[in-house]
Amino acid sequence: MSSVNPLQHEAGRGLDIQAIRRQFPVLAQTVNGNPLVYLDNGASAQKPEAVIDAELRCYREYYANIHRGVHSLSQRATTEFEAVRGKVRTLLNAPSEKEIVFTRGTTESINLVAYSFVEPRLQAGDEILITAMEHHSNIVPWQILCERTGAKLVVVPISDAGEFSLDDVESRLTPRTRIVSLLQVSNALGTVNPVREVARLAHARDIPVLVDGAQSAPHMPVDVQELDCDFFAFSAHKLYGPSGVGVLWGRQELLQAMPPWQGGGDMIRTVSFEKTEFAEPPARFEAGTPNIAGVIGLGAAVDWFLALDPAAVAAHEADLLAYASEQVGGIPGVQLIGNAEKRAGALSFIMTDAHPHDIGTILDGYGVAVRAGHHCAEPVMRRYGIPATARASFAVYNTRQEVDRLVAAIHKVRELFGG
Ligand code: ALA
Repeated sequence: MSSVNPLQHEAGRGLDIQAIRRQFPVLAQTVNGNPLVYLDNGASAQKPEAVIDAELRCYREYYANIHRGVHSLSQRATTEFEAVRGKVRTLLNAPSEKEIVFTRGTTESINLVAYSFVEPRLQAGDEILITAMEHHSNIVPWQILCERTGAKLVVVPISDAGEFSLDDVESRLTPRTRIVSLLQVSNALGTVNPVREVARLAHARDIPVLVDGAQSAPHMPVDVQELDCDFFAFSAHKLYGPSGVGVLWGRQELLQAMPPWQGGGDMIRTVSFEKTEFAEPPARFEAGTPNIAGVIGLGAAVDWFLALDPAAVAAHEADLLAYASEQVGGIPGVQLIGNAEKRAGALSFIMTDAHPHDIGTILDGYGVAVRAGHHCAEPVMRRYGIPATARASFAVYNTRQEVDRLVAAIHKVRELFGG
């Protein structure tokens, strides 16, 4: 695939980032009088023309509801929609496209597992194991389940560097553990977690593992068979696709055994007032008319991303992150939050005299977009005794020159705050 990719230089020379940038219309603008430097990709990535065009084409040429029409437009929309399962199967190296469930995003995917897979197996006193670096979407659904059932949320602690130890995972796996749910890459710290090793520990005790891949799928090759997890969730919008669309991959035998979690059209085989028979997965979990054009946009995003080669994307972003860590970390008064040995995607930092919201606002004045806040990971902030961080998060279209612009703008913050 990479050998015919026009966006790559000769083999081994990396991606042609300027050619990639030209595919993103939104990047070619000035913000507050400066060329935009978009470093808020952890929150949401920008969209290439291939994705925008795919959604537009759907609405302009063949839009109709899916799975319901004998007419030509519906047939075409259904074919295009269903083809996306195969693309996602390839992205994740999943065994079967029947294991690909479309959702509204990572959050909904985790909720689906919580309510359909875990809750029916949960009794008072059972345990759900997560880590101290989870996003709220991998905390709150479990807390709600615990409140409903009397189960307990058990949390693996993290070090100052932003890592957990496998010993701490192992010592918290008990005969009452019903699932281990953890993110592969931390949105707040950038830590890359050893999910394969966690799965090995959990599976030795027959405990299933859910991987929140929201921040890993856009930044590295993902292979659910290699990870040996049981569920994998990600969102389209962080992977250069549309918002409001996501995926839950689950092992077929687990999906087969799960009851529906929402009832409605398109998830049934037959309905009568006496009894309803449900469709097989994945349809069983896709009640109602889905985001048809959004899923088709996801398919275009996956094609686009795979054509770049996720390993090449990972290499480019690793270079950016290392460069940014060195440059930003070297600024007097700046403290990096999270210093794990393996990191991807994001660089969180605080400054001695400036609140992260001030940092974010001043950087915006120089056209540099970062996220400031708790990043939907308040327990992580609490772990470090801080209210918030400023976070620069990277995508394949970012460059070292943009990191230089970030650094120059941080120096302006220092000047303003007298650091
Ligand atoms: N979870 C997204 C972030 O990290 C929104 O910014």
